[in-house]
Amino acid sequence: MRRKLVVGNWKLHGSTARNEALLLQFQDGRLADGIDVAVCPPFTYLQQAVGLLAESGVSVGAQDVSAFHRGAYTGEISGEMLVDLGCSCVIVGHSERRSLFGDTDPVVARKVVAALETGLTPILCVGETQSQRESGLAEQVVAAQLESVMACVDVNRLDHMVVAYEPIWAIGTGLTATPEQAQVMHVFIRRFIESTGADGQSIRILYGGSVNSANAASLFDECDIDGALVGGASLDFESFRAICAAASGVVRQGDLRRV
Ligand code: PGA
Repeated sequence: MRRKLVVGNWKLHGSTARNEALLLQFQDGRLADGIDVAVCPPFTYLQQAVGLLAESGVSVGAQDVSAFHRGAYTGEISGEMLVDLGCSCVIVGHSERRSLFGDTDPVVARKVVAALETGLTPILCVGETQSQRESGLAEQVVAAQLESVMACVDVNRLDHMVVAYEPIWAIGTGLTATPEQAQVMHVFIRRFIESTGADGQSIRILYGGSVNSANAASLFDECDIDGALVGGASLDFESFRAICAAASGVVRQGDLRRV
């Protein structure tokens, strides 16, 4: 049985004061009831988040990591530095990094390797564009993204890797893949991972793309959707709490299944 995981991706948002107001609400420890929860603030706020979440059961991750461990790489942040700050996971290959910042498949693969080497859980993002889906290429695109990573990592070290299926057309658009569409792709990803000899049954596959408090429960009902990577809704405590509650199966009045 895979434990559900909900990860908040804050992207380029936050300030010391706003983060404190948000994270103080996490401190009652109830978000992570029976599930794993992590938040990924910008690098500059990681230490603040680690401090404020110390007793909450919520982990802290980064939004990117260098492919290099140390050396003359101006502007880079290494996995060892993230571990040193108290991070346990890192998002790698988010579509915004792929499309805007030159994170090609080989770069993403090297970053996954660097994360695994430092003991961080890489949350590897994969997903297709709208036109790729309409052309029937969604599975081919996702397979190529997975293939380049799987070719570089020792399958025996993959047990704590997480994959996030994030259809690009659903990110920040308010369009969500239907639970059935997501489930089909999650099964495809799991089978692909298994075809490389890795233990696909133990790897968690998250869905990401406009997850909110109203659609989370129906996504989590699908047996291969092991949690969510949440952007916009992770910046609002009540929304994020409701998504976590949906993942832990805890129904609080007004939270779930409003549809
Ligand atoms: P969104 O972002 O939930 O705002 O669509 C998800 C992501 O980009 O990880």
